[in-house]
Amino acid sequence: MTRDKLTAYIHTWGCQMNVRDSEHIKGILKGEGYDISDTPDGASLVVLNTCSIREKAEQKFLSELGRLSLQKKKHPELKIAVSGCIAQQQGRALLKSHPSVDFSFGPQNIFNLKEFLYDEKRTAFTKENTGETEEIHHTQLSAHRDNDLRAWVNIMYGCNNYCSYCVVPYTRGRERSRSYENIIAEVRDLADKGYKEISLLGQNVNSYSGGCTFPELLTMICGIGGILRIRFITSHPKDLTAELAITMGKSAKICNHIHLPVQSGSTNVLNRMNRKYTFEEYFDKILILRKHVPDIAITTDIIAGFPAETDSDHYETVRALKEIEFDGIFAFKYSQRPHTKAADMEHQLSESIKSQRLAEILTVSDMITERKNKVLEGKCFEVLTEGINADNRWFGRTTTNKIVNFSPDEHTERGRVVMVKVIEGFKHSLEGQLVV
Ligand code: SAH
Ligand code: SF4
Ligand code: F3S
Repeated sequence: MTRDKLTAYIHTWGCQMNVRDSEHIKGILKGEGYDISDTPDGASLVVLNTCSIREKAEQKFLSELGRLSLQKKKHPELKIAVSGCIAQQQGRALLKSHPSVDFSFGPQNIFNLKEFLYDEKRTAFTKENTGETEEIHHTQLSAHRDNDLRAWVNIMYGCNNYCSYCVVPYTRGRERSRSYENIIAEVRDLADKGYKEISLLGQNVNSYSGGCTFPELLTMICGIGGILRIRFITSHPKDLTAELAITMGKSAKICNHIHLPVQSGSTNVLNRMNRKYTFEEYFDKILILRKHVPDIAITTDIIAGFPAETDSDHYETVRALKEIEFDGIFAFKYSQRPHTKAADMEHQLSESIKSQRLAEILTVSDMITERKNKVLEGKCFEVLTEGINADNRWFGRTTTNKIVNFSPDEHTERGRVVMVKVIEGFKHSLEGQLVV
């Protein structure tokens, strides 16, 4: 096969961490002569970058793999690789059950992809990464980026929290932080290349420990010229400090948004989830955030129907939603995952109870989100312009991470901060008008 004919398609499921990993995968493949295609049709290599957080994510991957396996029957030269969290946990089994898969590699092995590509054996690469090689590769790799305005920057990998329902510590390994010098160097480089917004990535950014604290890291990044906005995801409530809230309040560059997954409004359930905070402690942190950053938008994750969750636990969650009034939530039915503690807990709930509770949670939170967006009508916000949407109108985001659609004028350009007045608030977006 001649190198200039190679094309690769990467399908990404899961969180921002996986999205960023896919960018690295694309960067490595481009370095090996591949063109990146946005369709699997005609590709010489397909990488399925998987997520195993819930069973549904796994099913989606398996159906795509089934489709591709048929395609491979017609085109035996097609290479199929599986990466991501399912590859880490089940890579070996996958190679056995799916002869169409050529090789698999977990998230901690991405930086060796170049070697795997030329390995003739069908292997599942699942070596645990200690951090050192990752740090070096991460810093040296000139990764591909899907967006030229907003960039993801890893500040740490893995997770040590072992929430009883969650596979992440088993797929991404122990928590390890990148050194702040390397992070700063990467952000400087991004600023030089014209990036305006960066999002710092980690499973628990508040426990960052790469030579300084997380608020100190934020403050250093604020000093880098050219970067207009800084976001970060995800924060764990147990490690969130007043220092972070104060730092956010002081800097105009740090966006007024925090994603702070509560998971449940019941302290009993939180205990069994091994979240290491009570609902009261969580609520106090919300008060601290709102005190120091008065217009902060707070979003969260909720799990509906954790094992042995009672009706009254569930109503504590519903009450928590009403009390806190989140700007948006991601809610999921509890999914029993292999190797996790919660999978072996007694009183696993039926699908119908989980669905019922999830529906109630979503109804309550949708009402709140819409009401909160309606309150914004008539107010003006700074919006970072991102581009043109499907209706040929422009869109951008407020610092509170709300999407605003608006009609441009002759000066509208990508990557600029403009003032927009909110005309109408909807559930998932705002309708705005440029203020000149
Ligand atoms: N590190 C982040 C989130 C990682 S996973 C944090 O701690 O907040 C993203 C979300 O998926 C979690 O917040 C949780 O709400 C959900 N999730 C994780 N495992 C799940 C499971 N087994 N069933 C249902 N939802 C789950
Ligand atoms: Fe999973 Fe908990 Fe770690 Fe988040 S903090 S990744 S939910 S174990
Ligand atoms: Fe999924 Fe792995 Fe992210 S399980 S949510 S891709 S860390």
